[in-house]
Amino acid sequence: MKINNRLNEIQEYHFKKIEDIKENLIKSGKDILDLSIGDPDLPVNNDIVNELISATNKKKFNMYPPYEGIKELKTAIIKYYREVFGVKLELDEVLVLIGSKEGINNIIPAVCNIGDYVVVPNPCYQVYVTSPKLWGAIPYKVPILGKNKYLPILSNIPENIVKKSKLFIINYPNNPTGAEGNEEFYKEIVSFCNKRDIILVNDSAYIEIVNSGKRPVSLLQYDKEKTSIEIGTFSKTFNMTGFRIGYAVGNSKVINALLKIKSNVDSGQFMPIQYAAAKALSLDRNIIEKNKKIYDERRNCAKNILKSKNIKFYDSEAAFYIWCNVPKNYTTTEFCEKLINDYGIIVTPGNSFGDVSNTYFRISLTRDIKLIEKYLCKIQQF
Ligand SMILES: Cc1ncc(COP(=O)(O)O)c(C=O)c1O
Repeated sequence: MKINNRLNEIQEYHFKKIEDIKENLIKSGKDILDLSIGDPDLPVNNDIVNELISATNKKKFNMYPPYEGIKELKTAIIKYYREVFGVKLELDEVLVLIGSKEGINNIIPAVCNIGDYVVVPNPCYQVYVTSPKLWGAIPYKVPILGKNKYLPILSNIPENIVKKSKLFIINYPNNPTGAEGNEEFYKEIVSFCNKRDIILVNDSAYIEIVNSGKRPVSLLQYDKEKTSIEIGTFSKTFNMTGFRIGYAVGNSKVINALLKIKSNVDSGQFMPIQYAAAKALSLDRNIIEKNKKIYDERRNCAKNILKSKNIKFYDSEAAFYIWCNVPKNYTTTEFCEKLINDYGIIVTPGNSFGDVSNTYFRISLTRDIKLIEKYLCKIQQF
């Protein structure tokens, strides 16, 4: 039987592998703490759950939803961008998605022809690399380094690649490093992409997971002509990973192309989930602040323990990840295996985020602080 050749270039999704390892360890009776995948352990607000349930009483709740999303959710997203970021959006500049992963995948055929380049950061959330490959586009991996606060140096991208690039994907706050974008960088990259006719996409999955003293920042605040788009999600801000609900906002031409792909390959999300998402955006922002404080405490706790163990890390204040250096004389695979076998701690090896990260690993702060403390304290000093 013959299957798509392009699949040969793609590995099994790394968290699927980790899930299998974890299942075997649990079966063998090992006491473990999973700090690998970024799946929040915090509860979903009751009002969101109640809205999900009560929306099943609405007429036609079980039928195909509108492809672009229900108007109630689109207007809630417009209000959110206006109030939180001061960005004005029209209805045709908003598209509801089945999670941001769907949007990241579908933006490739929406924008790229076969053989076009997509500039992506290295390391990164690997969907930016695998989706272009699946659709016959070519990912160009631009290194992002700690010494440059994990922001790409745009002048380092070869001119011949720039000429063939249609799309530039960035992700701030960043997975896996926890780095943040800033005004100067956003302005620079918007202008870089505009001059070269490249569509810029910020994956803003962690936009609200920043240190509790800080305000969230959107790329669209610095894109006055609205040439770019931002792909967002309810997964991390509202602990709704399993709901599968996200959105794309920004340039209406790009949004429309994305809708064209979406309407041909999938449908809208279940309407009660869309109502629940609209409810999430209407809630007092204190619930977001509360979550941010919890992540701050976990981040500080983990950083202090790592320091005491002589494990170096990028001193970030955003996303719920800590990007750590593997101690000397280990590869990331060896060290992550040691953490599992000796201390029962599952983390994500750096090479799951790209081929430059063999000396890093990622800790996800999506478990209770007491567990984080208990397990990390077990690690020996390096
Ligand atoms: C950077 C980044 N983007 C997107 C996603 C996917 O989020 P969603 O649940 O909205 O598909 C993740 C999930 O971990 C992520 O880390």
